[in-house]
Amino acid sequence: MEHLINPLVREIQISGIRKISNLVSTIPGALTLTIGQPDFPTPRHIIEAGQRALDQNKTVYTQNPGLLELREAVANFVHVKYGQTYRPADEIIVTAGASQAVDITLRTILTPGAEVIIPAPIYPGYEPLIRLAGGVPVYVDTRENGLKLTADLLEPYLTDKTRCVILCYPSNPTGQVLSEKELADLAQLLADRELFILSDEIYSELVYGQQHYSIATLGKLREKTIVINGLSKSHAMTGWRIGFTLAPAYLTEHMTKVHQYNVTCASSVSQYAALEALTVGVDDALPMRSAYEARRDYVYDRLVAMGIELEKPDGAFYLFPSIAKFGLSSMDFTMKLLQEEHVAVVPGDAFTSFGEGFIRISYAYSQEVLEESLNRLERFIGKLR
Ligand SMILES: Cc1ncc(COP(=O)(O)O)c(C=O)c1O
Repeated sequence: MEHLINPLVREIQISGIRKISNLVSTIPGALTLTIGQPDFPTPRHIIEAGQRALDQNKTVYTQNPGLLELREAVANFVHVKYGQTYRPADEIIVTAGASQAVDITLRTILTPGAEVIIPAPIYPGYEPLIRLAGGVPVYVDTRENGLKLTADLLEPYLTDKTRCVILCYPSNPTGQVLSEKELADLAQLLADRELFILSDEIYSELVYGQQHYSIATLGKLREKTIVINGLSKSHAMTGWRIGFTLAPAYLTEHMTKVHQYNVTCASSVSQYAALEALTVGVDDALPMRSAYEARRDYVYDRLVAMGIELEKPDGAFYLFPSIAKFGLSSMDFTMKLLQEEHVAVVPGDAFTSFGEGFIRISYAYSQEVLEESLNRLERFIGKLR
């Protein structure tokens, strides 16, 4: 009977990140730098707000796009932090994590054959959802361009079939961010074209030493951009499953229908916790950001001292060093490192084939784990030379 299953679903591969982390669990004493989730606990006051919601029986459906007070808090948060302006009543949807926000966006805007341009290497969560919606991913190789999608690099890929351009900055897996000038150049290129921009800004609170800029704040771009954000990374709330979309009303109206028939609403308890996070906890990310920044500097300096080539990232909690000079594929490098030194990283090809020649190191781990893992990595590459 399996042949009756939707081929679009059958062809989806499980994420390469999960494959490695499943393997790690079978090796005793293995250290892992694989997972993209904060190692900090959810701030206590947010947990308590969730508990209060339970105690007060706030356990029923909310409005489909989420509690109005939460949408108001979202609107205020993104306005104060990034200068984005959205109406709580009809331009914001609270979703089950940023993942569901990506899904409802793509299912609302894509038709069969529609092309979606994606800078690569990239987070592997987009392609399966694009394909399920009948779209066609078109990857732009950013490896020779400092791992950034710039206007010059993008222009040749735009066709009549392009329906969407995905921007994911700060980037998973590269940690790169786009400057205001780089975004302005992209905005100029895209302003008069009939296409949408999906701007995944889930790491917006984790930008080091500079401001986070959003393409949606540049001139006409707001009208064609769906901004995706959420609390998974900023407030260490991955398991609460709270994300949101910010998009003009004409888009939000249709996305809300997909959302409604998909999940009805995000978890009510999590929404009350999110309300606390975006009111009392607006600056909860700041101490975590300082810790990540110090770790980024530590890991970056250690890798440079080992003679490893990499772009210094300004956001998220990943480094994406090149391992090309060791003459092993990224998968072979990763497996050998895991077997010989019991340290797990993610092979670059988990982020499309354009990640070949790289590994992703997550530094959302304690200083002790980072230090010991890097000692092991150093010993490993010493043997490869
Ligand atoms: C770029 C990017 N977008 C979206 C997500 C999904 O976030 P959430 O856990 O809120 O669904 C992730 C998670 O790793 C991510 O890295």
